[in-house]
Amino acid sequence: MEYAKNILETIGNTPLIKLNKLTKELPCLVLAKYETFNPGNSTKDRMAVKMIEDAEADGRLKPSGTIIEGTSGNTGMGLALAAIVKGYKCIFVISDKQSKEKIDILKALGAEVVVCPTDVEPTDPRSYYSVSKRLGEETPNSWYVNQYDNPSNTKAHYETTGPEIWKQTDGKITHFVVGVGTGGTISGVGKYLKEQNPDIKIWGVDTYGSVFKKYHETGVFDKNEIYPYVTEGIGEDILPANVDFSIIDGFTKVTDKDAAIYTQKLAKEEGMFLGNSAGAAIKGVLQLQEHFTKDDVVVVLFHDHGSRYVGKMFNDDWMRKMGYKE
Ligand SMILES: Cc1ncc(COP(=O)(O)O)c(C=O)c1O
Repeated sequence: MEYAKNILETIGNTPLIKLNKLTKELPCLVLAKYETFNPGNSTKDRMAVKMIEDAEADGRLKPSGTIIEGTSGNTGMGLALAAIVKGYKCIFVISDKQSKEKIDILKALGAEVVVCPTDVEPTDPRSYYSVSKRLGEETPNSWYVNQYDNPSNTKAHYETTGPEIWKQTDGKITHFVVGVGTGGTISGVGKYLKEQNPDIKIWGVDTYGSVFKKYHETGVFDKNEIYPYVTEGIGEDILPANVDFSIIDGFTKVTDKDAAIYTQKLAKEEGMFLGNSAGAAIKGVLQLQEHFTKDDVVVVLFHDHGSRYVGKMFNDDWMRKMGYKE
């Protein structure tokens, strides 16, 4: 018989899938690392389990402990799955701009969810950074995960996602393009790929309202770059320790409108029902087209599933209300 001993054993080894219609103007092969095949429907399952395993190993997380994290949903999903299998409790702190579906899904997996305002400074006691930190200090036998600065986040992608992409492309990958939030995916995959072949280019996709692109280009943390935006999962108003700027060759910024429109296009033109950061990522690939030539193999990573966005990017009333559609 061939079976997984529990749901966590099905994480990873996701397919690589060719894009056909949206990329037809590009000279090169564009392949999607399709992370929704993970059991929590996102790439975050990989790092969630790795962060838990490393915390168990060095005693930060103890038997029947409480896992506390500020999460926009996908990391929470991965942590919740692992907590169920391994016998932990979860408290997640989430910002109020996240989709209702994400919050309901976390509750469905038995987690307690605390919702905080988005439009406050990270240092404000109401911010989701501050609230998660405080709950971590106040809750007995708890462990505050901190995916932004936790090195196990990057390590998970260095140990699994990077090697998978290298093997699946038979070492022919020339460019890796991915949305950047905590930085774990780009830094882990990027480091592994550059160790195999330093010529591989690593591109980050950023949003308008986030500090990454300007910081990478100038070394200046410019507060004027920070303002509210709609795109979910990518961009930050802080510099997480998991963003290794030294392995990133450049960033391209995608507008909220384009990210939303291309999320719909992926579904309608490629049959790829994916989340909002996938729309941003594929638009990022198209924006970078001058960097690609005929023999290039571009891999773009799609983080999460469309089901979490049915009330937003897949709802035409919402799209019209936002001014993204006539
Ligand atoms: C939907 C989505 N896209 C992209 C990202 C960014 O990935 P990373 O945090 O590894 O940079 C995240 C992370 O929260 C996410 O949830």
